[in-house]
Amino acid sequence: MDYLTLALGKGRTAIQAIDLLSQAGIQFEDFHPKSRKLIFYDHTMGIKMVYVKAIDVPTYVDTGAADLGIAGKDNIQESNSNLYDMMDLKLGACQFVVAGVDKQTYTEKQKLTVASKYPRIASSFFQKKGKQIQTIKLNGSVELAPLIGMADVIVDIMETGTTLKENGLSVFETIDQISTRLIVNKASFATKSTRIHDILNRLRNVLG
Ligand code: PRP
Repeated sequence: MDYLTLALGKGRTAIQAIDLLSQAGIQFEDFHPKSRKLIFYDHTMGIKMVYVKAIDVPTYVDTGAADLGIAGKDNIQESNSNLYDMMDLKLGACQFVVAGVDKQTYTEKQKLTVASKYPRIASSFFQKKGKQIQTIKLNGSVELAPLIGMADVIVDIMETGTTLKENGLSVFETIDQISTRLIVNKASFATKSTRIHDILNRLRNVLG
């Protein structure tokens, strides 16, 4: 059988995504989030799942290494990949926010320093506002940056708000709503359309 490849991002919504796929009749029997295995199969449906870093999912789909992907809107937007964003899977709802300690600095400073895991999204947001910024790319623990004088503010995702609260940061502005999406490679969508539509319909039926 010619297998379809699905890239699934590791992280907080992976188990929920696996559960959703299972309800849609796509089951990776030997999947376990702590497994070190990187490839899992549903032999009945003919789907090969590659379990990769969440930030890399759009790259797998854009390059055609995967036909489909399940990724957060944050990682999709930041990657600026050329792909189809087909469906909101309604998992991992959170927000993109601008946060910091000192709101006056945020509103009054001419040129802000912004720390973020998402420099492209940060730049695009402030460009639309007509505000000059300098971005500092970090890969995690971004909340630290305003606390140690590395940046004026951060652009990051907020889910429960606990990380901001525990570090004494406040939300200054909300940029966007984020959730987990199903993405599709453009060529695969043309050449494997029947099978991809079957998967989309199965997911739609579960999501209601
Ligand atoms: C994300 C994000 C925030 C936190 C928000 O980080 O960058 O730090 O989660 O969640 P909360 O609002 O529920 O507290 P992640 O847990 O992915 O870790 P990281 O800092 O290592 O990127």
